[in-house]
Amino acid sequence: MRMVEPDEAAAIGDGPLPVHVAIVMDGNGRWATYQGLDRTKGHFAAKQPAFDCINLALDLGIPWLSIYAFSLENWTRPAEELDVLLSYPQWAFTRKTVDSLKTRGVRFHFIGDLADERVPPEARAWFTRLEQETSHNDVLELVVAFNYSGRTEIVEAARRAILAGVAPEDLDVELLSSFMHLPNMPPVDLLIRTSGEQRISNFLLWHIAYSEFVFFDTLWPDFKRGHFQSALAEFQVRHRRYGGLPWLARNPATRSQEQAT
Ligand code: IPE
Ligand code: IPE
Ligand code: MG
Repeated sequence: MRMVEPDEAAAIGDGPLPVHVAIVMDGNGRWATYQGLDRTKGHFAAKQPAFDCINLALDLGIPWLSIYAFSLENWTRPAEELDVLLSYPQWAFTRKTVDSLKTRGVRFHFIGDLADERVPPEARAWFTRLEQETSHNDVLELVVAFNYSGRTEIVEAARRAILAGVAPEDLDVELLSSFMHLPNMPPVDLLIRTSGEQRISNFLLWHIAYSEFVFFDTLWPDFKRGHFQSALAEFQVRHRRYGGLPWLARNPATRSQEQAT
């Protein structure tokens, strides 16, 4: 990934921006290990980059940002790491931090299995409180995926549809979407992953059907505003086709002329 120059970064707000950015914040453990630190230190160091991204999304007017904080598969981590990861909501979203985000119009959403009895009650209570406290905000929808699994979200949506009495012949993409954790969540336009891994790791599977992917070798604790700006600049030069033809997608007005020739 080429990193932008300052003048390019300044122009990003003038170009087309994604409606929904999703980030797999990966590499915390390696970041700490490379410095001879305990892996848990890497998780604490992951807070600032996340806030830099939230603030850039707010500055640019990007309306949806989803961040992957803890996956359903992360329960296999050692106990001392789980202690830190499971108290994430309390140390990452302190009162002071939440107040500053609230003032800027951030609305919190938490997706994942919060009813799981392994999720500490304090974390569950803090999530619920933040969602309630910010429910009136509408500048940035901040989605925190915690104890989350993309495959499970789809299975749960199918279950809810069955329980709601939806007939098999009526079930289509739009209707199943309405049974997802957040029915009004738009598809992901841009998915960013750090740490050099080029995989999805079960994040937002339903919503990434036509996402643009940008991968960085940078470890998440080293991720800066400039990285996010560079990903946005890369997004702006991608040609999204959605299965169609690029020149038709770019200029539908010329479609009939081109078809005629
Ligand atoms: C990402 O960092 C955070 C979580 C998975 C919760 P990792 O802890 O996966 O860090 P690496 O990938 O082992 O370096
Ligand atoms: C994905 O990272 C999960 C989060 C960032 C929360 P992982 O480190 O768990 O993913 P894998 O195991 O490398 O695929
Ligand atoms: Mg990892």
